[in-house]
Amino acid sequence: MNEFGVVRAIHVLAVVLWIGGVAMVTTVLLPATAEHVDAAERVAFFERLEESFARQSRWTTLAAGLSGLWLVWRWDLWSRFLDPRFWWMHAMVAIWAAFTLMLFVLEPWVLHGWFRARALRDPGGTFAAVRRLHWFLLTASLVTVAGAVGGAHGGLFAP
Ligand code: HEM
Repeated sequence: MNEFGVVRAIHVLAVVLWIGGVAMVTTVLLPATAEHVDAAERVAFFERLEESFARQSRWTTLAAGLSGLWLVWRWDLWSRFLDPRFWWMHAMVAIWAAFTLMLFVLEPWVLHGWFRARALRDPGGTFAAVRRLHWFLLTASLVTVAGAVGGAHGGLFAP
């Protein structure tokens, strides 16, 4: 395996751990919390569980971003960002930027306090909003993964 293979493998491993974790949280952890924890406790309970995943995600997001940027730089792929047929390149950067903003800025500095305050007023509505946000991020991430694999290897989504 040459250096491109190694970096591509790092990129894919980081994406697997990161987006796989998002899928686990969305399809298993959130429904289980809804089923087994009282409405008033749900948001705080879920936040405690998700904190360890958020810590892990900060590293995997960083690894996916750095390896992706390295591939763009070494293959000189910048012109792809001017071509709408490479929508999946834009999608990768958009997903990465959204998670980076959430994990490094919004969650620790804004959302944590905002969700706590909102959960006191409206626990059911706040938990439902958390679930919707996770489904939205998971769906967008999976569309991006499918587009990137199809785009990188030719086939259904290839330009
Ligand atoms: C700053 C963010 C990112 C950059 C710059 C980036 C860049 C790249 C590049 C240059 C490739 C190789 C494309 C090719 O072979 O033609 C690639 C592949 C790929 N990326 Fe990203 N990426 C980023 C984030 C993401 C994210 C967030 C995801 C998942 C949601 C993702 C999923 C993938 C997948 C699945 C492949 C295909 C790997 C393969 O089948 O060989 N990337 N990325």
